[in-house]
Amino acid sequence: MKLQPALADLLRQAYSAEKAAAFAYQGHAGAVKNKAEKAAIHQIEIDEWNHRREVLAIMGLYGIKPSRWYEIRFHVVGKIISGSCYVIGWFMPFYFAGRLESGNVCEYFRMKQYFNAIGIHEHDPVLYEMGIKEKEHEVYFGEQIKDNRLLPFFEKLFGWSSASSFNNIDLDNKYPVEKSDSYCHK
Ligand SMILES: [Fe+2]
Ligand SMILES: [Fe+2]
Repeated sequence: MKLQPALADLLRQAYSAEKAAAFAYQGHAGAVKNKAEKAAIHQIEIDEWNHRREVLAIMGLYGIKPSRWYEIRFHVVGKIISGSCYVIGWFMPFYFAGRLESGNVCEYFRMKQYFNAIGIHEHDPVLYEMGIKEKEHEVYFGEQIKDNRLLPFFEKLFGWSSASSFNNIDLDNKYPVEKSDSYCHK
């Protein structure tokens, strides 16, 4: 079965972007001093490598190969972000990680919508789990900075805080996978 080009591209992009995220978290974990923060960010890095594997497994079922261009581009992006964590202080890596995760949540719910539109439901649980996991990442980063004095300023400039998320998922009242259709519709 041939997937919609937009879905195939979403998968290729997510596959490569997960690598960028994993690299970025290596730098982020390396740059923070606090042991608990280090461990939490390292766990998030592991989550991203797992996502990359899951996305590749789905791609394989439809004969979709990773994009060389995305692989190179996101490799460089990830390494740059990783290195920058050592020089831009404590706050910004948390802020931009939270902001990025906030956008990533809907990537997986959008993929689910694409698959469902052509009658494929077998990936629903995995895509749902990945979307929810990204939400957990967003919430973690948001929690770390919620009382920081820089937050109001960054929120104005870059449009994100845990109070103004880019997605409509509420972990405290989340829908089960079969009712998750209302997520990420614009
Ligand atoms: Fe991820
Ligand atoms: Fe994530």
